[in-house]
Amino acid sequence: MTVPKFGLTDHTAETIRDGKADVIVIGTISEGDTVALADGAAAVDEAFDGELLSALKALGATGAADEVVRVPTFGRVSASAVYATGLGKVNGDAPTAEQVRRACGAAGRALSGTKRALVTLSQIDLRAAVEGIALGAYQFTEYKSDPGEAPVKNVDFVSPADGTGKEHKATLKAATAVATAVVTARDLVNTAPNDLYPASFAERAKKLAEEAGLSVEVLDERQLKRKGYGGILGVGGGSSRQPRLVRLHYKPSKPKAKVALVGKGITFDTGGISLKPAAKMQEMTSDMAGAAAQLATAVLAAELNYPIEVIAYLPLAENMPSGTAYRPGDVLRMYGGKTVEVLNTDAEGRLILADAIARAGEDDPDYLIETSTLTGAQLVALGNRTPGIMGSDEFRDRVADIAQRTGEGGWPMPLPDELRSDLDSKLADIANVTGQRWGGMLAAGIFLREFVKDDLPWVHIDVAGPAYSDAVWGYTGKGGTGVPVRTLAAVLADIAENG
Ligand code: BES
Ligand code: MN
Ligand code: ZN
Repeated sequence: MTVPKFGLTDHTAETIRDGKADVIVIGTISEGDTVALADGAAAVDEAFDGELLSALKALGATGAADEVVRVPTFGRVSASAVYATGLGKVNGDAPTAEQVRRACGAAGRALSGTKRALVTLSQIDLRAAVEGIALGAYQFTEYKSDPGEAPVKNVDFVSPADGTGKEHKATLKAATAVATAVVTARDLVNTAPNDLYPASFAERAKKLAEEAGLSVEVLDERQLKRKGYGGILGVGGGSSRQPRLVRLHYKPSKPKAKVALVGKGITFDTGGISLKPAAKMQEMTSDMAGAAAQLATAVLAAELNYPIEVIAYLPLAENMPSGTAYRPGDVLRMYGGKTVEVLNTDAEGRLILADAIARAGEDDPDYLIETSTLTGAQLVALGNRTPGIMGSDEFRDRVADIAQRTGEGGWPMPLPDELRSDLDSKLADIANVTGQRWGGMLAAGIFLREFVKDDLPWVHIDVAGPAYSDAVWGYTGKGGTGVPVRTLAAVLADIAENG
């Protein structure tokens, strides 16, 4: 899917009265037990001779988040309806970026079937409004014979009062690019696992990346074997669809830093011989969300000409039980030579990631950012909307701060040393699981740390819960969410600016 066609417009009474929009979107705020109009709505209210607010009250509007109230205009303006979308309660002077993003997300969904909309919430925060509308409008109808009402086609955003036209244009461009990257990641996650398997994922990655000017290398099973990628081969061996390792390289002329990206690409996770229970197993179609996010982010870095070199690794494999599958008890020789005793074939993500992380270290990056749907324990610890962020202390805290600002959330988590000895193996250098349940998310992070080059600032972002949604809220629908693309994009932008 693509994002709607976006434009900017100046805020004049004429745009409101005689514009081309079919629907005008305004924001509402919860104030005590009543509703108020948000910034940007005043001009619309004027066209209603100040009666918009009483109409909204009569319709039961409260201004709560995820509330969209439709008001017919009865010809007072050329648009046929005003959609009032709730920002919730405002603490302080203005709604937060996330409140704007969420309200615009709900509006973006409600706008399905509309040809052209005019959005006024951009006067509060243009960037958040664009992201919210684009992500709220997202639909994945690839497999539907009758896709229903199409997403809104054209959206004009009223320019904010401060800043120049040039700045607004740049903001619109960057926000549209980021939203497009999120959409790319969502599309990949939502594609069924019979269509998206290692080789077909690699093909799609190659096409997307080459179009954006990145160089692409894909290792197939023969090359993986020759180079000693024991983790990827071990995990992928149970499937008739053989594994791949994709490497994407974006190199601007004078890069300020070099960043390695690594994302887990298990195109389906049955658990392998340590088979998962049937309930909800279909959700393991999202077990490649990390690889999808890194692919989208590497492409985005090129599209926005970030002055940093980016090398992304996508280890791709399908975890299946079969006569050729790896088993509990196997010892794998990983890329770089370390050996791993497999105690549970369902702890497969860390095995393919270990190979990719070891390989990424050879490029001598300044930072390494890995993300994966790695553990059910992430959901136990942080719920299904908050990524767990682990890694080297300073960089971890920097990434967690940035994650908070994007609205994707994300919380710093420790890698306690005492868990390392739980990974000791009698047979090999390390085991792939501990013998106990506690701190499962952290133990996985500790396992990954073993493969990170010494002194390299790195993070591991566990998005097992946040990458996939079974509920509809704000700018998130059911299925792939695209998390953590906005965090990754913001971290790269921060490195591009501050080194
Ligand atoms: N892909 C799963 C983790 C997962 C669980 C993602 C729920 C999304 C939602 C991962 O490969 C896995 O199976 N992890 C095991 C590890 C365990 C065997 C140590 C888990 O979390 O149960
Ligand atoms: Mn698993
Ligand atoms: Zn998995």
